[in-house]
Amino acid sequence: MMQPALETATAYLQHYANTHSTVHTSAKITSSVMQWAHQRIVTFLHADLTRYASILAGSGTTAAVNRIASGMAVLRPERDVVLVSMMEHHSNDLPHRQHAGLVEHIPLEMEGTYAGEIDLQALEQLLIKFKGRVNYVAVTGVSNVTGIINPIGKIAALVHRYDAYLLVDGAQMVAHMPVHLERDDIDLFVFSGHKIYAPGSPGVLVGKQSLLSKLEPNQLGGGMVSLVTPYSYQLEESLEAREEAGTPNIFGTVILACVLEVLDQIGMEAIFTQEQALIEQVIKNLSGCPDLKIYGDTDSTRRVGSIAFNIADMDHGLVAALLNDYYGIAVRNECFCAHPYVKEMLKEELFSLDIEADTDEEELFQVNLKRGMVRASFGLYSSAEDIETLGKALRDIVEKREAYLACYEPQQDGSYLHKHFNPAAESLFDPRQVLADYLSL
Ligand SMILES: Cc1ncc(COP(=O)(O)O)c(C=O)c1O
Repeated sequence: MMQPALETATAYLQHYANTHSTVHTSAKITSSVMQWAHQRIVTFLHADLTRYASILAGSGTTAAVNRIASGMAVLRPERDVVLVSMMEHHSNDLPHRQHAGLVEHIPLEMEGTYAGEIDLQALEQLLIKFKGRVNYVAVTGVSNVTGIINPIGKIAALVHRYDAYLLVDGAQMVAHMPVHLERDDIDLFVFSGHKIYAPGSPGVLVGKQSLLSKLEPNQLGGGMVSLVTPYSYQLEESLEAREEAGTPNIFGTVILACVLEVLDQIGMEAIFTQEQALIEQVIKNLSGCPDLKIYGDTDSTRRVGSIAFNIADMDHGLVAALLNDYYGIAVRNECFCAHPYVKEMLKEELFSLDIEADTDEEELFQVNLKRGMVRASFGLYSSAEDIETLGKALRDIVEKREAYLACYEPQQDGSYLHKHFNPAAESLFDPRQVLADYLSL
């Protein structure tokens, strides 16, 4: 949580009111703050307020993608194909599978290794193959596994030549690099506030007004209608109003808008440069670490935000547990909600496991399930010292792996429990206790 944003939003709370009234002073303040927040989101993404609108979409990127998947299927039913890339988070894959007739996966560059960005030639071949049928193409701006950056401007130009729209999943992009919706001619862009220093904020959908205004609202209720009779209703003119039925997450939205204001003052270009330098440093540092493999293209100019790796002959679950328990480094492990991508990159390693030729599908699936990676993520607050700490920790783990392994009990679910150090979560933080302390003051 970005502190100045939290403080400003907390100061706003003394005026908190619902958005749907305008007469009393707090309602006026709230309406004005929310209007500012919607505009702040659009301008943060370098888009013109007369051409783009921002819509608060509920639970993260997932809600925003679902909104588009269902809306676009109704808007152009004759276009039954959606193209997504092989590196998508499930949130930018499964909603399209639910609503489209057919979802095809675009291969990535560096064929066979799945290490590169989206393969533009392969994308064009699919657009040709399904000419007249592709409704839209949905791709991530930056991979949540490898941090590989996709050329979304080039993808937009290509997609538009085939009369399709482009939806960019910006969940991993928005906090780490500048986004230029207008320059890159992006039709739809979605992201989650909690990935940009604004936990508690809603998901966001930003899109061209010319497209959004054609979508039938799929959530009906208060606030989005100007007139209702027992037999009919009239939708509000403004896109934001008609798309945001019910009471929006006002507090979270204020936090998000304040965060974007601060980030713009620092400058996203400067943040990008600083974070790429960190990625370069981490790749250099870890490349020298014995038995450690980094996934994805290791050209640091083509990636940002995170790095996924494995240590040979060590389960990702054990490495993640060790980093947490011994070094205080929080990483994620497993497949990061991007199973097809992770499994493709691990294919060779899976084959190198001693799997019998006659292993049945179910058994293979179980082996496959056990495979995953470790991912370290970086942000505005990460420092060169953090990278050194991570490098040292991983070298130490490689060196003492047998000794460390002996300290852990593998669990049925693939995780590892330390035999002696295993504090219960409530002993570290218990809201009831904190509340009791507060009330007794
Ligand atoms: C690239 C990407 N897309 C979508 C999502 C889903 O975001 P949310 O859980 O906020 O809906 C994530 C979350 O990890 C992500 O990294």
